[in-house]
Amino acid sequence: MPTYLEDFPRPEDGFYVLVTGANSGLGLGIGCRLIDEFLQTRPQSQELVLIITTRDKRKGDATIEQLQAHLQKACRQLERKVPGMSMVLQRRVHFRQEILDLTSLLSIQVLAKKLRDTTPKLHAVICNAGIGGWVDLYWGRAVWTVLTKAPSSLTWPTFKKSGVGWVTKPQLPAKKDGSRADEPPLGEVFCANFFGHYMLGHYLAPLLAAHSEDEQARGRLIWTSSLEGYTHSLNMKDMQSIASTEPYEASKRLTDIMALTSTLPSTAPSVDTYLDNITDTEKKNRPRIYLTHPGICGTSIFPLNIVLDFFMFSAFYVARWIGSQWHPVTAYKGAVSMVWIALAKQSLLDTMEERDGLGKWGSCTDRWGEERVERTEVEGWGFGGNLGQKMSKWYQRSPYAKDLTKENKAEFVKNGEVLWKEVEALRIDWEKRLEDAGVAIKMD
Ligand SMILES: NC(=O)c1ccc[n+]([C@@H]2O[C@H](COP(=O)([O-])OP(=O)(O)OC[C@H]3O[C@@H](n4cnc5c(N)ncnc54)[C@H](OP(=O)(O)O)[C@@H]3O)[C@@H](O)[C@H]2O)c1
Repeated sequence: MPTYLEDFPRPEDGFYVLVTGANSGLGLGIGCRLIDEFLQTRPQSQELVLIITTRDKRKGDATIEQLQAHLQKACRQLERKVPGMSMVLQRRVHFRQEILDLTSLLSIQVLAKKLRDTTPKLHAVICNAGIGGWVDLYWGRAVWTVLTKAPSSLTWPTFKKSGVGWVTKPQLPAKKDGSRADEPPLGEVFCANFFGHYMLGHYLAPLLAAHSEDEQARGRLIWTSSLEGYTHSLNMKDMQSIASTEPYEASKRLTDIMALTSTLPSTAPSVDTYLDNITDTEKKNRPRIYLTHPGICGTSIFPLNIVLDFFMFSAFYVARWIGSQWHPVTAYKGAVSMVWIALAKQSLLDTMEERDGLGKWGSCTDRWGEERVERTEVEGWGFGGNLGQKMSKWYQRSPYAKDLTKENKAEFVKNGEVLWKEVEALRIDWEKRLEDAGVAIKMD
Protein backbone atom coordinates (compact mmCIF):
# COMPACT_ATOMS: atom_id res chain seq x y z
CA MET A 1 0.00 0.00 0.00
CA PRO A 2 1.44 3.42 -0.91
CA THR A 3 2.13 5.83 1.94
CA TYR A 4 0.10 9.00 2.07
CA LEU A 5 1.44 12.04 3.82
CA GLU A 6 -1.82 13.87 4.42
CA ASP A 7 -4.03 13.51 7.45
CA PHE A 8 -7.53 12.48 6.35
CA PRO A 9 -10.70 13.29 8.30
CA ARG A 10 -12.41 10.03 9.31
CA PRO A 11 -15.16 10.84 11.80
CA GLU A 12 -16.95 7.77 13.12
CA ASP A 13 -20.42 9.02 12.19
CA GLY A 14 -19.21 10.60 8.95
CA PHE A 15 -21.30 11.18 5.83
CA TYR A 16 -18.80 10.96 2.98
CA VAL A 17 -19.53 12.69 -0.33
CA LEU A 18 -17.20 13.07 -3.31
CA VAL A 19 -17.88 15.89 -5.81
CA THR A 20 -15.91 16.03 -9.05
CA GLY A 21 -15.08 19.34 -10.75
CA ALA A 22 -15.85 21.28 -7.58
CA ASN A 23 -13.84 24.43 -8.31
CA SER A 24 -16.37 26.26 -10.43
CA GLY A 25 -19.96 26.52 -11.58
CA LEU A 26 -22.27 23.79 -10.53
CA GLY A 27 -19.59 21.84 -8.61
CA LEU A 28 -19.05 24.77 -6.28
CA GLY A 29 -22.81 25.26 -6.00
CA ILE A 30 -23.18 21.59 -5.02
CA GLY A 31 -20.50 21.95 -2.31
CA CYS A 32 -22.14 25.05 -0.80
CA ARG A 33 -25.65 23.66 -0.94
CA LEU A 34 -24.59 20.33 0.51
CA ILE A 35 -23.09 22.12 3.52
CA ASP A 36 -26.29 24.12 4.10
CA GLU A 37 -28.71 21.24 3.70
CA PHE A 38 -26.57 18.80 5.64
CA LEU A 39 -26.32 21.13 8.64
CA GLN A 40 -30.03 21.83 8.59
CA THR A 41 -31.35 18.32 8.09
CA ARG A 42 -28.93 15.80 9.56
CA PRO A 43 -28.61 14.93 13.28
CA GLN A 44 -26.06 16.90 15.34
CA SER A 45 -24.04 13.73 15.84
CA GLN A 46 -23.36 13.36 12.13
CA GLU A 47 -20.40 14.98 10.36
CA LEU A 48 -20.02 15.76 6.67
CA VAL A 49 -16.79 14.82 4.92
CA LEU A 50 -16.80 16.70 1.64
CA ILE A 51 -14.14 15.36 -0.73
CA ILE A 52 -13.70 17.65 -3.68
CA THR A 53 -11.73 17.00 -6.82
CA THR A 54 -10.09 19.56 -9.09
CA ARG A 55 -7.51 19.34 -11.83
CA ASP A 56 -4.68 20.85 -9.79
CA LYS A 57 -3.80 21.74 -6.20
CA ARG A 58 -4.05 25.49 -6.72
CA LYS A 59 -7.68 25.13 -7.79
CA GLY A 60 -8.27 22.73 -4.90
CA ASP A 61 -6.86 25.19 -2.33
CA ALA A 62 -8.96 28.03 -3.72
CA THR A 63 -12.08 25.84 -3.64
CA ILE A 64 -11.55 24.79 -0.02
CA GLU A 65 -11.08 28.47 0.87
CA GLN A 66 -14.40 29.35 -0.77
CA LEU A 67 -16.19 26.44 0.87
CA GLN A 68 -14.72 27.40 4.27
CA ALA A 69 -15.99 30.95 3.79
CA HIS A 70 -19.42 29.61 2.85
CA LEU A 71 -19.46 27.34 5.91
CA GLN A 72 -18.63 30.26 8.21
CA LYS A 73 -21.37 32.36 6.66
CA ALA A 74 -23.88 29.52 6.98
CA CYS A 75 -22.90 29.01 10.62
CA ARG A 76 -23.27 32.74 11.38
CA GLN A 77 -26.78 32.65 9.92
CA LEU A 78 -27.75 29.56 11.91
CA GLU A 79 -26.22 31.12 15.05
CA ARG A 80 -28.86 33.84 14.85
CA LYS A 81 -31.57 31.17 15.10
CA VAL A 82 -29.82 29.00 17.72
CA PRO A 83 -27.27 31.09 19.66
CA GLY A 84 -24.09 29.30 20.69
CA MET A 85 -24.26 26.77 17.84
CA SER A 86 -21.73 28.26 15.45
CA MET A 87 -18.63 26.41 16.68
CA VAL A 88 -20.50 23.12 17.04
CA LEU A 89 -21.78 23.39 13.48
CA GLN A 90 -18.40 24.29 12.03
CA ARG A 91 -16.87 21.20 13.59
CA ARG A 92 -19.43 19.07 11.76
CA VAL A 93 -17.98 19.76 8.31
CA HIS A 94 -14.61 18.47 7.10
CA PHE A 95 -12.99 19.16 3.76
CA ARG A 96 -10.58 17.11 1.75
CA GLN A 97 -9.21 17.81 -1.69
CA GLU A 98 -7.95 15.46 -4.36
CA ILE A 99 -6.64 15.78 -7.91
CA LEU A 100 -8.57 14.21 -10.76
CA ASP A 101 -8.32 14.55 -14.51
CA LEU A 102 -11.15 12.59 -16.07
CA THR A 103 -9.43 12.46 -19.45
CA SER A 104 -6.54 10.50 -17.93
CA LEU A 105 -7.52 6.94 -17.05
CA LEU A 106 -4.40 6.68 -14.92
CA SER A 107 -5.38 9.75 -12.89
CA ILE A 108 -8.74 8.06 -12.23
CA GLN A 109 -7.05 4.88 -11.05
CA VAL A 110 -4.63 6.80 -8.82
CA LEU A 111 -7.46 8.68 -7.11
CA ALA A 112 -9.63 5.58 -6.74
CA LYS A 113 -6.79 3.62 -5.15
CA LYS A 114 -6.06 6.46 -2.74
CA LEU A 115 -9.71 6.73 -1.72
CA ARG A 116 -9.96 2.97 -1.28
CA ASP A 117 -6.87 3.02 0.96
CA THR A 118 -7.83 6.00 3.08
CA THR A 119 -11.61 6.31 3.25
CA PRO A 120 -13.84 4.00 5.29
CA LYS A 121 -16.81 4.43 2.93
CA LEU A 122 -18.52 6.75 0.50
CA HIS A 123 -22.19 7.61 0.74
CA ALA A 124 -22.41 9.50 -2.53
CA VAL A 125 -20.25 10.30 -5.53
CA ILE A 126 -21.55 13.28 -7.49
CA CYS A 127 -20.28 12.98 -11.06
CA ASN A 128 -20.40 16.64 -11.94
CA ALA A 129 -17.24 17.59 -13.85
CA GLY A 130 -17.54 17.98 -17.58
CA ILE A 131 -16.78 20.00 -20.67
CA GLY A 132 -18.95 21.42 -23.43
CA GLY A 133 -16.48 20.98 -26.24
CA TRP A 134 -17.96 24.03 -27.98
CA VAL A 135 -15.80 26.41 -29.96
CA ASP A 136 -18.20 29.17 -30.96
CA LEU A 137 -21.83 30.09 -31.58
CA TYR A 138 -23.69 30.23 -34.86
CA TRP A 139 -24.30 33.91 -34.23
CA GLY A 140 -27.02 34.56 -36.80
CA ARG A 141 -29.09 31.61 -35.58
CA ALA A 142 -28.41 32.55 -31.95
CA VAL A 143 -29.76 36.09 -32.33
CA TRP A 144 -32.71 35.01 -34.47
CA THR A 145 -33.88 32.12 -32.31
CA VAL A 146 -33.37 33.99 -29.02
CA LEU A 147 -35.48 36.87 -30.35
CA THR A 148 -38.18 34.70 -31.92
CA LYS A 149 -38.29 31.42 -29.99
CA ALA A 150 -37.42 32.20 -26.36
CA PRO A 151 -37.62 30.63 -23.84
CA SER A 152 -37.47 27.34 -25.80
CA SER A 153 -34.35 28.46 -27.73
CA LEU A 154 -32.60 29.24 -24.42
CA THR A 155 -33.46 25.83 -23.00
CA TRP A 156 -32.80 23.63 -26.03
CA PRO A 157 -30.40 25.82 -28.05
CA THR A 158 -29.49 24.97 -31.62
CA PHE A 159 -26.75 27.56 -32.00
CA LYS A 160 -23.71 26.10 -30.22
CA LYS A 161 -20.86 25.07 -32.47
CA SER A 162 -18.87 22.03 -31.36
CA GLY A 163 -15.31 21.07 -31.95
CA VAL A 164 -15.12 17.87 -34.03
CA GLY A 165 -12.61 15.05 -33.76
CA TRP A 166 -11.29 15.92 -30.31
CA VAL A 167 -9.41 13.08 -28.63
CA THR A 168 -7.64 12.85 -25.28
CA LYS A 169 -3.88 12.96 -24.87
CA PRO A 170 -2.32 9.47 -25.19
CA GLN A 171 -3.19 7.27 -22.22
CA LEU A 172 -0.13 5.03 -22.45
CA PRO A 173 3.46 6.13 -21.81
CA ALA A 174 5.94 6.43 -24.66
CA LYS A 175 8.06 3.34 -25.34
CA LYS A 176 11.72 3.19 -24.25
CA ASP A 177 12.87 4.22 -27.74
CA GLY A 178 10.68 7.32 -27.50
CA SER A 179 8.04 6.09 -29.96
CA ARG A 180 4.37 6.17 -29.01
CA ALA A 181 2.62 3.01 -27.91
CA ASP A 182 -0.20 1.82 -30.15
CA GLU A 183 -3.54 2.82 -28.71
CA PRO A 184 -7.01 3.58 -30.03
CA PRO A 185 -8.25 7.17 -29.80
CA LEU A 186 -10.46 8.11 -26.86
CA GLY A 187 -13.02 10.85 -27.54
CA GLU A 188 -12.27 13.81 -25.28
CA VAL A 189 -15.82 14.97 -24.56
CA PHE A 190 -16.91 11.34 -24.20
CA CYS A 191 -14.12 10.69 -21.71
CA ALA A 192 -14.50 13.90 -19.68
CA ASN A 193 -18.28 13.70 -19.45
CA PHE A 194 -19.00 10.00 -19.46
CA PHE A 195 -16.29 7.37 -19.60
CA GLY A 196 -14.03 8.92 -16.94
CA HIS A 197 -16.83 8.99 -14.39
CA TYR A 198 -17.89 5.52 -15.50
CA MET A 199 -14.43 4.15 -14.70
CA LEU A 200 -14.33 6.04 -11.40
CA GLY A 201 -17.73 4.62 -10.39
CA HIS A 202 -16.48 1.10 -11.04
CA TYR A 203 -13.42 1.51 -8.82
CA LEU A 204 -15.39 3.20 -6.05
CA ALA A 205 -18.22 0.64 -5.98
CA PRO A 206 -16.72 -1.23 -2.98
CA LEU A 207 -16.58 2.00 -0.97
CA LEU A 208 -20.15 2.83 -1.92
CA ALA A 209 -21.25 -0.66 -0.90
CA ALA A 210 -19.96 -0.45 2.67
CA HIS A 211 -22.78 -0.39 5.20
CA SER A 212 -23.54 2.88 6.91
CA GLU A 213 -25.49 3.68 10.08
CA ASP A 214 -28.70 3.45 8.04
CA GLU A 215 -28.48 -0.13 6.90
CA GLN A 216 -31.08 0.37 4.17
CA ALA A 217 -29.11 3.20 2.58
CA ARG A 218 -27.36 2.48 -0.66
CA GLY A 219 -24.21 4.25 -1.82
CA ARG A 220 -25.24 6.55 -4.65
CA LEU A 221 -23.52 7.28 -7.94
CA ILE A 222 -25.20 10.53 -8.88
CA TRP A 223 -24.76 11.50 -12.53
CA THR A 224 -25.16 15.01 -13.89
CA SER A 225 -26.95 14.98 -17.21
CA SER A 226 -28.60 17.79 -19.11
CA LEU A 227 -31.86 18.72 -20.83
CA GLU A 228 -29.92 18.26 -24.05
CA GLY A 229 -29.52 14.49 -24.14
CA TYR A 230 -31.20 14.10 -27.53
CA THR A 231 -31.79 10.85 -29.40
CA HIS A 232 -30.61 12.40 -32.66
CA SER A 233 -27.21 13.40 -31.20
CA LEU A 234 -26.06 9.88 -30.41
CA ASN A 235 -24.87 7.46 -33.05
CA MET A 236 -24.09 4.17 -31.33
CA LYS A 237 -21.71 3.30 -34.19
CA ASP A 238 -19.60 6.25 -33.01
CA MET A 239 -20.31 5.91 -29.27
CA GLN A 240 -17.38 8.18 -28.41
CA SER A 241 -18.74 10.84 -30.79
CA ILE A 242 -15.34 11.54 -32.29
CA ALA A 243 -16.86 12.34 -35.68
CA SER A 244 -19.98 13.92 -34.21
CA THR A 245 -20.94 17.58 -34.42
CA GLU A 246 -22.78 17.18 -31.09
CA PRO A 247 -20.42 15.24 -28.79
CA TYR A 248 -21.67 17.02 -25.63
CA GLU A 249 -25.31 16.20 -26.28
CA ALA A 250 -24.32 12.63 -27.22
CA SER A 251 -22.43 12.20 -23.93
CA LYS A 252 -25.54 13.30 -22.02
CA ARG A 253 -27.72 10.92 -24.01
CA LEU A 254 -25.32 8.10 -23.10
CA THR A 255 -25.60 9.18 -19.46
CA ASP A 256 -29.40 9.07 -19.58
CA ILE A 257 -29.58 5.66 -21.25
CA MET A 258 -26.89 4.15 -18.99
CA ALA A 259 -28.50 5.37 -15.76
CA LEU A 260 -32.14 4.66 -16.61
CA THR A 261 -31.47 1.12 -17.81
CA SER A 262 -29.12 0.26 -14.95
CA THR A 263 -31.68 -1.75 -12.99
CA LEU A 264 -33.25 -3.69 -15.87
CA PRO A 265 -32.82 -7.47 -16.07
CA SER A 266 -31.49 -7.15 -19.64
CA THR A 267 -28.50 -5.05 -18.54
CA ALA A 268 -27.85 -6.99 -15.32
CA PRO A 269 -24.92 -9.10 -16.60
CA SER A 270 -22.96 -5.95 -17.53
CA VAL A 271 -24.10 -3.91 -14.51
CA ASP A 272 -23.08 -6.78 -12.22
CA THR A 273 -19.49 -6.80 -13.43
CA TYR A 274 -19.46 -3.01 -13.40
CA LEU A 275 -20.58 -2.92 -9.78
CA ASP A 276 -17.96 -5.50 -8.84
CA ASN A 277 -20.64 -8.20 -8.49
CA ILE A 278 -21.76 -6.63 -5.23
CA THR A 279 -25.10 -7.94 -4.02
CA ASP A 280 -27.07 -7.10 -0.89
CA THR A 281 -25.65 -8.96 2.11
CA GLU A 282 -25.47 -8.35 5.85
CA LYS A 283 -22.35 -6.28 5.37
CA LYS A 284 -22.90 -4.66 1.99
CA ASN A 285 -25.56 -2.99 -0.12
CA ARG A 286 -25.35 -2.84 -3.89
CA PRO A 287 -24.79 0.80 -4.90
CA ARG A 288 -27.34 2.59 -7.07
CA ILE A 289 -26.99 4.89 -10.04
CA TYR A 290 -29.16 8.03 -10.00
CA LEU A 291 -29.73 10.53 -12.78
CA THR A 292 -30.01 14.29 -12.30
CA HIS A 293 -29.62 17.52 -14.26
CA PRO A 294 -29.24 21.14 -13.16
CA GLY A 295 -31.55 22.82 -15.67
CA ILE A 296 -29.83 25.82 -17.26
CA CYS A 297 -27.30 27.76 -15.15
CA GLY A 298 -24.89 30.54 -16.00
CA THR A 299 -21.46 28.95 -15.58
CA SER A 300 -18.17 28.93 -17.43
CA ILE A 301 -19.00 25.75 -19.32
CA PHE A 302 -19.38 28.03 -22.34
CA PRO A 303 -16.55 30.53 -21.93
CA LEU A 304 -17.76 34.05 -22.68
CA ASN A 305 -16.29 37.48 -22.19
CA ILE A 306 -17.73 39.76 -19.51
CA VAL A 307 -20.15 41.53 -21.87
CA LEU A 308 -21.55 38.34 -23.34
CA ASP A 309 -21.68 36.83 -19.86
CA PHE A 310 -23.92 39.71 -18.80
CA PHE A 311 -26.19 39.13 -21.82
CA MET A 312 -26.31 35.40 -21.07
CA PHE A 313 -27.42 35.94 -17.47
CA SER A 314 -29.94 38.59 -18.51
CA ALA A 315 -31.40 36.27 -21.16
CA PHE A 316 -31.64 33.42 -18.64
CA TYR A 317 -33.50 35.59 -16.12
CA VAL A 318 -35.85 36.84 -18.84
CA ALA A 319 -36.45 33.21 -19.87
CA ARG A 320 -37.43 32.42 -16.29
CA TRP A 321 -39.69 35.45 -16.01
CA ILE A 322 -41.50 34.64 -19.23
CA GLY A 323 -42.25 31.21 -17.90
CA SER A 324 -39.31 28.80 -18.27
CA GLN A 325 -39.22 26.36 -15.39
CA TRP A 326 -35.80 25.13 -16.49
CA HIS A 327 -33.78 28.25 -15.64
CA PRO A 328 -32.43 28.04 -12.08
CA VAL A 329 -29.73 30.43 -13.48
CA THR A 330 -27.43 30.30 -10.42
CA ALA A 331 -25.30 27.26 -9.73
CA TYR A 332 -26.57 27.11 -6.13
CA LYS A 333 -30.16 26.73 -7.29
CA GLY A 334 -29.11 24.37 -10.09
CA ALA A 335 -27.50 22.11 -7.47
CA VAL A 336 -30.83 21.37 -5.80
CA SER A 337 -31.47 18.04 -7.57
CA MET A 338 -27.98 16.58 -6.96
CA VAL A 339 -27.98 17.57 -3.30
CA TRP A 340 -31.50 16.30 -2.80
CA ILE A 341 -30.59 12.89 -4.25
CA ALA A 342 -27.43 12.79 -2.11
CA LEU A 343 -29.29 13.46 1.15
CA ALA A 344 -32.77 11.96 0.58
CA LYS A 345 -33.83 8.99 2.68
CA GLN A 346 -33.45 5.71 0.85
CA SER A 347 -37.03 4.74 1.67
CA LEU A 348 -38.32 7.93 -0.02
CA LEU A 349 -36.34 7.35 -3.23
CA ASP A 350 -37.31 3.67 -3.31
CA THR A 351 -41.00 4.42 -2.82
CA MET A 352 -41.04 7.04 -5.57
CA GLU A 353 -39.25 4.74 -7.98
CA GLU A 354 -41.45 1.76 -7.17
CA ARG A 355 -44.51 3.89 -7.84
CA ASP A 356 -43.42 5.86 -10.91
CA GLY A 357 -40.26 4.19 -12.24
CA LEU A 358 -36.66 5.39 -12.45
CA GLY A 359 -36.54 9.11 -13.07
CA LYS A 360 -34.30 11.86 -14.31
CA TRP A 361 -34.40 14.41 -11.51
CA GLY A 362 -34.11 17.98 -12.72
CA SER A 363 -33.52 21.28 -10.96
CA CYS A 364 -36.12 23.89 -11.81
CA THR A 365 -37.65 27.02 -10.34
CA ASP A 366 -40.84 29.02 -10.43
CA ARG A 367 -40.93 32.53 -11.88
CA TRP A 368 -39.65 33.98 -8.61
CA GLY A 369 -36.65 31.68 -8.46
CA GLU A 370 -38.04 29.31 -5.82
CA GLU A 371 -36.22 26.08 -6.65
CA ARG A 372 -37.54 22.52 -6.63
CA VAL A 373 -36.79 19.10 -8.09
CA GLU A 374 -38.93 17.66 -10.86
CA ARG A 375 -38.99 14.51 -12.93
CA THR A 376 -37.86 15.25 -16.47
CA GLU A 377 -39.02 13.68 -19.70
CA VAL A 378 -36.46 11.57 -21.55
CA GLU A 379 -36.92 10.58 -25.19
CA GLY A 380 -37.84 6.88 -25.26
CA TRP A 381 -38.33 6.66 -21.48
CA GLY A 382 -40.88 9.35 -20.73
CA PHE A 383 -40.96 10.30 -17.07
CA GLY A 384 -40.35 6.87 -15.61
CA GLY A 385 -40.56 4.27 -18.35
CA ASN A 386 -44.34 3.85 -17.92
CA LEU A 387 -46.69 4.26 -20.87
CA GLY A 388 -49.48 6.77 -20.41
CA GLN A 389 -47.80 8.85 -17.70
CA LYS A 390 -49.35 12.33 -17.79
CA MET A 391 -47.45 15.57 -17.46
CA SER A 392 -48.85 18.71 -15.87
CA LYS A 393 -50.12 21.31 -18.31
CA TRP A 394 -47.34 23.64 -17.13
CA TYR A 395 -44.58 21.19 -17.99
CA GLN A 396 -42.21 22.58 -20.64
CA ARG A 397 -41.45 19.94 -23.16
CA SER A 398 -38.39 19.66 -25.36
CA PRO A 399 -39.23 20.46 -29.01
CA TYR A 400 -37.88 16.98 -29.82
CA ALA A 401 -40.06 15.13 -27.30
CA LYS A 402 -42.37 12.42 -28.52
CA ASP A 403 -45.04 10.59 -26.53
CA LEU A 404 -43.75 7.36 -25.09
CA THR A 405 -44.84 4.33 -27.09
CA LYS A 406 -44.17 0.63 -26.71
CA GLU A 407 -41.88 0.83 -29.74
CA ASN A 408 -39.69 3.76 -28.69
CA LYS A 409 -39.41 2.38 -25.16
CA ALA A 410 -38.31 -1.00 -26.55
CA GLU A 411 -35.65 0.79 -28.60
CA PHE A 412 -34.45 2.70 -25.55
CA VAL A 413 -34.15 -0.52 -23.55
CA LYS A 414 -32.33 -2.24 -26.41
CA ASN A 415 -29.92 0.70 -26.66
CA GLY A 416 -29.32 0.38 -22.93
CA GLU A 417 -28.37 -3.26 -23.31
CA VAL A 418 -25.99 -2.51 -26.19
CA LEU A 419 -24.50 0.51 -24.42
CA TRP A 420 -23.81 -1.35 -21.18
CA LYS A 421 -22.15 -4.22 -23.06
CA GLU A 422 -20.00 -1.89 -25.17
CA VAL A 423 -18.92 0.43 -22.42
CA GLU A 424 -18.08 -2.48 -20.09
CA ALA A 425 -16.00 -4.00 -22.90
CA LEU A 426 -14.27 -0.64 -23.38
CA ARG A 427 -13.48 -0.40 -19.66
CA ILE A 428 -11.98 -3.90 -19.62
CA ASP A 429 -10.04 -3.23 -22.81
CA TRP A 430 -8.47 -0.04 -21.42
CA GLU A 431 -7.65 -1.69 -18.10
CA LYS A 432 -5.78 -4.39 -20.00
CA ARG A 433 -3.93 -1.83 -22.10
CA LEU A 434 -2.78 0.03 -18.98
CA GLU A 435 -1.77 -3.25 -17.38
CA ASP A 436 0.17 -4.42 -20.44
CA ALA A 437 1.97 -1.07 -20.52
CA GLY A 438 2.97 -1.66 -16.88
CA VAL A 439 1.32 1.51 -15.56
CA ALA A 440 -2.03 0.24 -14.21
CA ILE A 441 -2.71 0.76 -10.52
CA LYS A 442 -3.71 -2.42 -8.70
CA MET A 443 -6.79 -1.75 -6.59
CA ASP A 444 -6.29 -4.35 -3.87
N1 LIG B 1 -24.34 25.03 -16.73
C1 LIG B 1 -25.43 24.44 -17.20
O1 LIG B 1 -26.42 25.09 -17.57
C2 LIG B 1 -25.49 22.95 -17.28
C3 LIG B 1 -26.65 22.39 -17.83
C4 LIG B 1 -26.73 21.01 -17.91
C5 LIG B 1 -25.72 20.23 -17.43
N2 LIG B 1 -24.60 20.81 -16.89
C6 LIG B 1 -23.55 19.91 -16.41
O2 LIG B 1 -23.09 20.33 -15.15
C7 LIG B 1 -21.74 19.90 -14.98
C8 LIG B 1 -20.90 21.06 -14.48
O3 LIG B 1 -20.87 22.04 -15.48
P1 LIG B 1 -20.74 23.60 -15.17
O4 LIG B 1 -21.81 24.26 -15.93
O5 LIG B 1 -20.62 23.85 -13.73
O6 LIG B 1 -19.38 23.92 -15.94
P2 LIG B 1 -18.00 24.54 -15.41
O7 LIG B 1 -18.25 25.75 -14.59
O8 LIG B 1 -17.17 24.68 -16.64
O9 LIG B 1 -17.42 23.40 -14.47
C9 LIG B 1 -16.91 22.21 -14.99
C10 LIG B 1 -16.02 21.58 -13.97
O10 LIG B 1 -15.54 20.35 -14.51
C11 LIG B 1 -14.13 20.35 -14.41
N3 LIG B 1 -13.53 19.57 -15.48
C12 LIG B 1 -13.56 19.81 -16.80
N4 LIG B 1 -12.86 18.87 -17.45
C13 LIG B 1 -12.36 18.04 -16.53
C14 LIG B 1 -11.54 16.89 -16.57
N5 LIG B 1 -11.05 16.40 -17.72
N6 LIG B 1 -11.22 16.28 -15.43
C15 LIG B 1 -11.68 16.74 -14.25
N7 LIG B 1 -12.44 17.83 -14.12
C16 LIG B 1 -12.78 18.47 -15.26
C17 LIG B 1 -13.73 21.81 -14.52
O11 LIG B 1 -12.41 21.98 -14.04
P3 LIG B 1 -11.46 23.15 -14.64
O12 LIG B 1 -11.88 24.40 -13.94
O13 LIG B 1 -10.09 22.69 -14.28
O14 LIG B 1 -11.70 23.21 -16.11
C18 LIG B 1 -14.79 22.42 -13.64
O15 LIG B 1 -14.47 22.24 -12.30
C19 LIG B 1 -21.29 19.34 -16.33
O16 LIG B 1 -21.39 17.93 -16.30
C20 LIG B 1 -22.32 19.91 -17.30
O17 LIG B 1 -22.51 19.11 -18.42
C21 LIG B 1 -24.46 22.16 -16.81
